Amino acid sequence: MHAHCLRRARMIPPARAQVQQRAGMSGQLTFLGIESSCDDTAAAVVRHSPGQPVMIMANVVASQTELHAAFGGVVPEIAARAHVEKLDLTIEAALAQAGLGLRDLDAIAVTAGPGLIGGVLAGVMAAKGLAAATGLPLVGVNHLAGHALTPRLTDDLPFPYLMLLVSGGHCQFLRVDGADSFTRLGGTIDDAPGEAFDKTAKLLGLPQPGGPSVEAEARKGDPARFAFPRPLLDRAGCDLSFSGLKTALLRARDAVVAKKGGLSRTDRADLCAGFQAAVRDVLAEKARRALAASQGITGFAVAGGVAANQTLRAALENTAAQAGTSFLAPPLALCTDNAAMIAYAGIERFRTGARDDLTLSARPRWPLDTKAPALIGSGKRGAKA
Ligand code: KG4
Ligand code: ZN
Repeated sequence: MHAHCLRRARMIPPARAQVQQRAGMSGQLTFLGIESSCDDTAAAVVRHSPGQPVMIMANVVASQTELHAAFGGVVPEIAARAHVEKLDLTIEAALAQAGLGLRDLDAIAVTAGPGLIGGVLAGVMAAKGLAAATGLPLVGVNHLAGHALTPRLTDDLPFPYLMLLVSGGHCQFLRVDGADSFTRLGGTIDDAPGEAFDKTAKLLGLPQPGGPSVEAEARKGDPARFAFPRPLLDRAGCDLSFSGLKTALLRARDAVVAKKGGLSRTDRADLCAGFQAAVRDVLAEKARRALAASQGITGFAVAGGVAANQTLRAALENTAAQAGTSFLAPPLALCTDNAAMIAYAGIERFRTGARDDLTLSARPRWPLDTKAPALIGSGKRGAKA
């Protein structure tokens, strides 16, 4: 915290009683959310009254993309240091954007895992500092729950619904029955699709993040020219695998280079189109199975950066329509990592009675569904949840 921020914080009397009174009167809650589990330092202010649309009063994201660009992936130590440097400024910017001071908040919600431990720790320590200084309640939030509850933040989607988290760090199908009730129907056994897009871009000399550049190339290409595998379609259930696709792309690229001495624009576009079609087919088929296994759901929603992919969105929307289910894709800024989803998930957890204190710990691994077997593999975020 900057000294002046802490000074301001110390002058505020303990707010717990005031919060309970205020929340009891109108049910309106205003939360600060803090997110630092990967390579984005984010802070947001979210206000919600039962029965009303959620108000995102501020949503600030400081990206670290440039810091990691030279390394071809997120370097945990660099990420942690950058979070420590940026957190207080980001929090101050969010409060300023919302036009609020710490005294106007009802609680502080912070990502307490899963993710890169140095970053998670930095966020949790910042939140604890603010909570200790102000007396505000603290709510630790699972990053994946933040993503999984986003369709309620944006569209008030009633429970239960089916969720596909698909990003650079996650890939799982979740049935969401409540703010604290998740059942994992399947997930990746190795890489996340975003990692595969990023690796594909790297192998083809396209800029990072790979998703948007591969998608742009794929638009010009022929998806049928290269025969990429559709991993795990022969296995029952909803688990997925993407590491084989990476290898298949590398082999296909090397075969073209060996034959022609290099890659033409068309070769590159065809490789991208073939790769993207394989990811799309696998996700669409596994979504079909997940939908078939989900009784009584109110809709099918996606979140995560890969959900920005138009080809994928169209395929998932089509799959949902065939299953007679509505499809929901939140705006991109709320699909990718942000702190508004953390603040909102904190509000939902708070309403169910969840409270943390200064013993809250940062957890590198924190599965949403504790009954499901652990997922193996490790990606951009370190160990998978
Ligand atoms: O959710 P996100 O911002 O961060 C986490 O990984 O949690 O997702 C970033 C990932 C990157 O791997 C990026 O390449 C991928 O999402 N991505 C896309 C697209 N836009 C971003 N993948 C495919 N198509 C896109 N249009
Ligand atoms: Zn995420």
